Amino acid sequence: MWVALVCGLFLCLMVKLFFYDDDTLRDSDDSHFSALFTVAKRLEKLYRGGRVYVGIQIPDLDSASRRNVDLVLVTNEEVVVISVKNVSGVVSLDEDGNWICTGKHHKTECIQNPVAETKHLVSILEEYLEQRGVAIPEGYLSFKVVCPNPFFSPIHSDSFPPEVITYDQWTRLKPEHSKLSSGWIKGILHGRKDKMQESFREKLNSVLGTAPISDRLELRGSKYVLGEFIEFKGKPDDLQKLRKIKRSKVSHLSVRKISMFGFANSTVQVLYAPRDYRAEESLGPSEWQEVTVRSSTEVVFQPQNSIKHHKYKLSSVVSMSLSA
Ligand SMILES: *[C@@H]1O[C@H](CO)[C@@H](O)[C@H](O)[C@H]1NC(C)=O
Ligand SMILES: *[C@@H]1O[C@H](CO)[C@@H](O)[C@H](O)[C@H]1NC(C)=O
Repeated sequence: MWVALVCGLFLCLMVKLFFYDDDTLRDSDDSHFSALFTVAKRLEKLYRGGRVYVGIQIPDLDSASRRNVDLVLVTNEEVVVISVKNVSGVVSLDEDGNWICTGKHHKTECIQNPVAETKHLVSILEEYLEQRGVAIPEGYLSFKVVCPNPFFSPIHSDSFPPEVITYDQWTRLKPEHSKLSSGWIKGILHGRKDKMQESFREKLNSVLGTAPISDRLELRGSKYVLGEFIEFKGKPDDLQKLRKIKRSKVSHLSVRKISMFGFANSTVQVLYAPRDYRAEESLGPSEWQEVTVRSSTEVVFQPQNSIKHHKYKLSSVVSMSLSA
């Protein structure tokens, strides 16, 4: 298994070295993160009462690091770890299960066996939950790799493992309560329809709700970025006003009312909620604080899986959530 993974990684690197140029298939990470939220929103519609956790980072004891989990879906019946691969183009499998994707202009990209990787995340999540006192009964924890891109065209789609949900299958998924309930539910539970105990689900949700999670930046145009907030950058007087907005004090900020005083110095209003461990979601309007700064002030953010810091102007930011 490890040998296969290492070989796979090597092969991926080779493909990257030889075929990658700057203008790659995965045009930007932003589209990956936006796909996560699109998929999460649809799942929440399909599974009423279900909850989707986006961007959980589970501590992996073996590698002493954190592993990013795209989505964790908790429904009445099951817990599903989901990786989202918004890839387009012709996709084939090599013998180690890596995906070789060929897109426009015959550019080739290699994705290291997403099925094996997601499966590995399941065991890490299971271990983490157990440590926090929630042991998931056998058969309730599973995984999927969702490919929501209409231009995802697998070669020999029947050679892909059943955990891979192609665009066609993804669009055909029906709401849970409907008779047509297709599903990955039945397939996984072998026809068993026992629900998880309400109290168990509550506990599970409370553990997942307090698991380490990526910071989240929502940009205008329904775009998202997951990663880590680094700092603000801008004029000294603005930074002075923003100095209260730091991880230890603030959990959420939103940006609104862009007022234009000519191009040079338009401003935005930044509203921020103080971190409150008792009831983060039940803050009244009076508890929000507000500052006005130049809209050219930037948020410096390090996206997941990127070694570079990216800068986003406050005028393009809708909101930002900071994890504890
Ligand atoms: C997938 O990525 C493309 C750009 O590569 C984007 O246009 C599309 O909206 C993304 N899919 C989803 C479901 O977000
Ligand atoms: C922007 O410019 C206007 C007038 O030109 C000025 O009154 C205002 O104070 C300026 N705002 C900031 C934030 O510098």
